[in-house]
Amino acid sequence: MTTMTDVARRAGVSVATVSHVLNDTRPVRPDTRAAVLGAIDELGYTPNTLARSLVTSRTRSIGLAVSAISNPYFTEILQGVEAGALEAGYSLLITDPHDDPRHERKVVQLLHERRVDGMIVAPSAEPAGMVEYLARREVPTVFLDRLVGDDHDQVCAENTGPVRQLVGHLAESGHTRIGLVAGLPGLSTTTERVQGYREGLRAHGLPFAPELLAGGNSEAAGAQDATRQLLAAPEPPTALITANNAMTIGTLRALRELGLDVPRDIALACFDDFSWADLFTPRLTAIAQPSKDIGAAAVRLLLERLAQPDRPPRTVRLPCTFVHRTSCGCAETAPATPPAAQERIPNGVVNPAR
Ligand code: HPA
Repeated sequence: MTTMTDVARRAGVSVATVSHVLNDTRPVRPDTRAAVLGAIDELGYTPNTLARSLVTSRTRSIGLAVSAISNPYFTEILQGVEAGALEAGYSLLITDPHDDPRHERKVVQLLHERRVDGMIVAPSAEPAGMVEYLARREVPTVFLDRLVGDDHDQVCAENTGPVRQLVGHLAESGHTRIGLVAGLPGLSTTTERVQGYREGLRAHGLPFAPELLAGGNSEAAGAQDATRQLLAAPEPPTALITANNAMTIGTLRALRELGLDVPRDIALACFDDFSWADLFTPRLTAIAQPSKDIGAAAVRLLLERLAQPDRPPRTVRLPCTFVHRTSCGCAETAPATPPAAQERIPNGVVNPAR
């Protein structure tokens, strides 16, 4: 196998110079750099990052632990993380904790054993064991989506304001019985979205009715059951809010099964926009999370932490966008426009007409 010494000999320079060219650790004269790169190309040399790690104690890798990777929301987060990591010269090791606290603790340990330089983790509903494992070993970590406490670096979208906004929109359209299909208990996203629901009701003088709130466990089957339960109430809701994209699917299944038409029989507004939300009939009124930006912000926070291990912990909150379509019962205002092409106003209404 070709070594750095072979490259140095072919280029007529020292091994240290080859190293400076490869690692950008010192300025090298352009003709020397060209000779080194030429020798690397001719000899087919590939740097051995494992050998480099032994010297630097850095692997230039980031461990990412995110459940539900097939959910478009998390897939987009992953894209944001991957792009940011690549730009900074880091590779990614990806694991799926399956939203299971024991599995989560295990995959985080595996990533640490691989000596990733830092981790980005979307915690489960019971993250204490995993958080303690990382804290005891002082592993630079950024938590994402679900918050674990402001003594940690963490990044997530706004949750309370956007749900308050959905309730407000439905209330202003005349609905007084607004149901919520809520997520998995224990997740900060669930707590905050339920809080936004309650605040929205209060702001519009509507009482909180426990029979209008049902837990959908953050997934489709749970939401299907929750929707059946909500609609079996003596005085059923005339509008529903679903607290994530997977639950929107379950709720739509239940509504179809019950023969209910959206929005004629019941209005629907969802947390999470996804690329085909405007292909549904009716087109889904939704809150769009800045998923890629969440991933990119997590990488930035982690790189900051690696550069300044003692800086105070930071929580980054990113604004969502209200994408106004027709499942809420409003009239068609404009032709379908893909979310990416719409104007984004932090916590404001997106007007697809412009
Ligand atoms: N958190 C936030 N948004 C989501 C989630 C989640 O777990 N799942 C789908 N959208």
